[in-house]
Amino acid sequence: MKIGILTGGGDCPGLNPVIRGVVRKSLLFGHEMVGIKFGWKGIVENIFEPLSEQSVSGILHRGGTILKSSRTNVFKIPNGVQIVQENMKKAGLDALVAIGGEDTLGVAAKLYQEGVNVVGVPKTIDNDLSATDYTFGFDTSVNIVMEAIDRLHTTAESHNRVIVVEVMGRHAGWIAVHGGIAGGADYILIPERTFTYEEIAESIKKRHAKGKDFSIVVVAEGAKIVAAEGKEEEFLKDQELDSFGHVKLGGIGARLAKEIEKRTGFETRDVVLGHLQRGGSPTAFDRVLGTRLGVFAAELVNSGNYGKMAALQGTKIVAADLQEAVGTLKTVDMDLYQVSTTFFG
Ligand code: F6P
Repeated sequence: MKIGILTGGGDCPGLNPVIRGVVRKSLLFGHEMVGIKFGWKGIVENIFEPLSEQSVSGILHRGGTILKSSRTNVFKIPNGVQIVQENMKKAGLDALVAIGGEDTLGVAAKLYQEGVNVVGVPKTIDNDLSATDYTFGFDTSVNIVMEAIDRLHTTAESHNRVIVVEVMGRHAGWIAVHGGIAGGADYILIPERTFTYEEIAESIKKRHAKGKDFSIVVVAEGAKIVAAEGKEEEFLKDQELDSFGHVKLGGIGARLAKEIEKRTGFETRDVVLGHLQRGGSPTAFDRVLGTRLGVFAAELVNSGNYGKMAALQGTKIVAADLQEAVGTLKTVDMDLYQVSTTFFG
């Protein structure tokens, strides 16, 4: 068999271990491997490269993706499905392994319905894909957030300041909650519930009244805050939408810092961790998870088990339906959020 492999959407530490796992296992099965560059864009524009054992040597510890990535939606391109099918035929590709989040795997699920032989691997630092307990990249991000909070603690404490840390998480606050709990945050805002400036300020005032003179607030970029007039505020970088209809979020941390300072009188600063959360080497957990998912995806293709995604359920890697994975977003378990609130105020 000739198998194509692609990485789509935002990059994520652990992509290279997955690629290595898929390629090494598929080569052992005797298949030929082709790298499709820049996600779905590569198959639409015929940007391919042969992959050998050498191509995936020395990449386990490297962040990013050797195959590069883009946010390309095949279903927004005129005759996109036909182009994918024709280009696969021309390149002699029998099957595809798509490594991506809700958007990339959403395309994979639809292509499968159109008769394309495709298998998915769940990827996102946001950890918001269903049918898998964790996505690789999430653990690395959480560790980066934790380390940042540790560093911010010492400077916040030296200056008697509140520091607001804005982290990624468009629709789900997994990074904020895990990073916040690990870093000992004094308040955490997530997109799953709505907050008011007043309740946040009150909680910080309460903490400082008990003798503390600094605080760390973690806010997910997609958190929801209702201003006094009862209107939910929007925090957007600009009005542009990507090909999957997503806006660019940004600005909530700066706004929140201003409101906290105004309402508490405590000097406040804000820090946006941004793409630092997606860069650099994957943790051991993400290297092992990525490797296991990659090897399993190769097994799915080898046995012709298409329309499936390699998923972590409990301690096992299993086959989940692609459709199930992209159907609904996995949002933060509110029992977990409740645990984090124990340390507020
Ligand atoms: O989906 C992963 C993610 O990192 C989100 O948390 C974030 O909102 C978005 O990607 C940022 O995308 P970009 O890399 O296009 O700025």
